[in-house]
Order: sequence, then C-alpha cells, then structure tokens
Amino acid sequence: MSIDTATGKEAPAELSSERVYEIFSNIAKKYERFNAVSSFGAYKLWLAGMMRQAPIDHTSDVLDIAGGTGDVAFAVARTKRPAHIQLTDFVPEMLDVARAHYSEGASCGVPVDFDEVDAQNIPYDDASYDVITMAYGIRNMPDRPRALAEMFRVLKPGGALVCLEFSTPPNRAWRALYGFYLKHLIPFWGGLITGDREGFVYLGNSIRAFPNQENLAQMMREAGFCDVTWKNYTGGIAAVHVAEKPR
Ligand SMILES: C[S@@+](CC[C@H](N)C(=O)[O-])C[C@H]1O[C@@H](n2cnc3c(N)ncnc32)[C@H](O)[C@@H]1O
Repeated sequence: MSIDTATGKEAPAELSSERVYEIFSNIAKKYERFNAVSSFGAYKLWLAGMMRQAPIDHTSDVLDIAGGTGDVAFAVARTKRPAHIQLTDFVPEMLDVARAHYSEGASCGVPVDFDEVDAQNIPYDDASYDVITMAYGIRNMPDRPRALAEMFRVLKPGGALVCLEFSTPPNRAWRALYGFYLKHLIPFWGGLITGDREGFVYLGNSIRAFPNQENLAQMMREAGFCDVTWKNYTGGIAAVHVAEKPR
C-alpha cells in the first residue's frame, strides 16, 4: 500500500514521488544550507552518531540510499575508509552536487560510484552489499514496505541497514515544543533563509506523519530484518535504527 508522505494516509504513489522529486530537484544547490537550517546544525551530531553506530570497516561495500548531495557517503568515506561506496538517489540534480564534491576530493580516495536509483525498485542483484546507509530517505517514500524489502534483498546475509531519520521525542513537553517548532517556526525561518517555504511546510508535515521509533522498527522486522535497535538523538528528534539481515 502506498501513502501520501505528508499525511500518512493511503494515496497513489505518484502523488508523493512527484512532489518529493520536484522539491529536491529545485533545492539541490541549496540543499546543504536547507539541511543546516532545518536542524540548527544538529544534523552534524546526528551524522556523527550514525557513523559510530554503522558496522562498516575497510572491507565493506556500502550502498547509500537516498544519498542526495553525499553527506552520508562522504562521512562514511572519511571515518570508515570502506572498500567502495555506491551513492544513489532518484533525483539527478542531487547526484550532480555529490559528483562535484567527489571531484573536489570529498571521499578522501575511497572509490565512489553514482547511480540514479528509486529505493522502491533497486536495480542491483540480491545479496550484493555489506551495509546500507540511508539518512532522511525512508520518510519521503510512499511505499516504505517495498523500499525496506528491496534493501533487505540487496543486503548480504549478516549485513546491516543503518537508518537516520527524524523521529518522535518520548518526552511529552519536548514533543509539544518540537511540534510547535515544526508547524510554525520551520516554514517561516526556512522560507526566509532558503526562499523555499513550501519545502519546509512539507518537511514539517512529513515528520509529523512519520512512524515513531518502535513503529519504524516494526516495519523493518516485517521486511525480514532482525535485531533491530535504535538510539535517540536530541531527545528523540532524530533516531538512528540499525537492523540486521539474518545470516
Ligand atoms: C533530505 S534528502 C537526504 C539526502 C542525504 N541522505 C543527506 O543526509 O543529506 C532526501 C533525499 O531522498 C531522495 N529520495 C526521496 N525519495 C526517494 C526514493 N524513492 N528513492 C531514492 N531517493 C529518494 C531525495 O531525492 C533526496 O535527495
């Protein structure tokens, strides 16, 4: 079943896919500023947490899903020195920015290949990657069970999915404050800085409609993953889930 990623309600997949495609193809060049603004810079801490949790070593072949301009892939390259990274996204304009960073040396010598890939239909063989990384990707996908099933399929047995996403603060007061920030401040502040108010309205709506930590973990289990754990960051505003494919 596919949903509208802005409301969580059942809807044709094209509705969300076309909207997300339009947002990211338009903001590709401004995306890194957009990212910094929307999290007040906290995304750097969350990314560092993701790197600490990621079971990647120098032998790993890593698939980065919804990799955008390459923040995650290049952090993996710098901190883990894996054998290879496949950086994928379904918006070519985002990949163009990533390629430009790569040609400026962002991967510190780690080989990176780029490919246009919709995570709901991954064009790679079964059991071909050791680790999949994905940051702020699954929330934008209208058919999440299918995307998770595809990631499960292309992982090797014993491999892991490492997923960073906005989430739900467990503390009620913090959750209320954060809800106010998402609804009122983020569109105003983000629109002022990047000129793309609508992108920030969508961001807030999609975060509010996204499953909480346990529900996302359950979706991963339903796709076949085991030993699903997560760690909250900034009081649960973001969470990093790690899920394994059974050996
Ligand atoms: C918020 S950005 C995150 C980019 C990057 N992971 C980062 O941390 O900066 C979300 C990305 O997801 C991509 N995306 C959305 N839906 C997708 C899908 N179905 N398949 C692949 N990529 C998708 C968008 O094009 C966009 O580049």
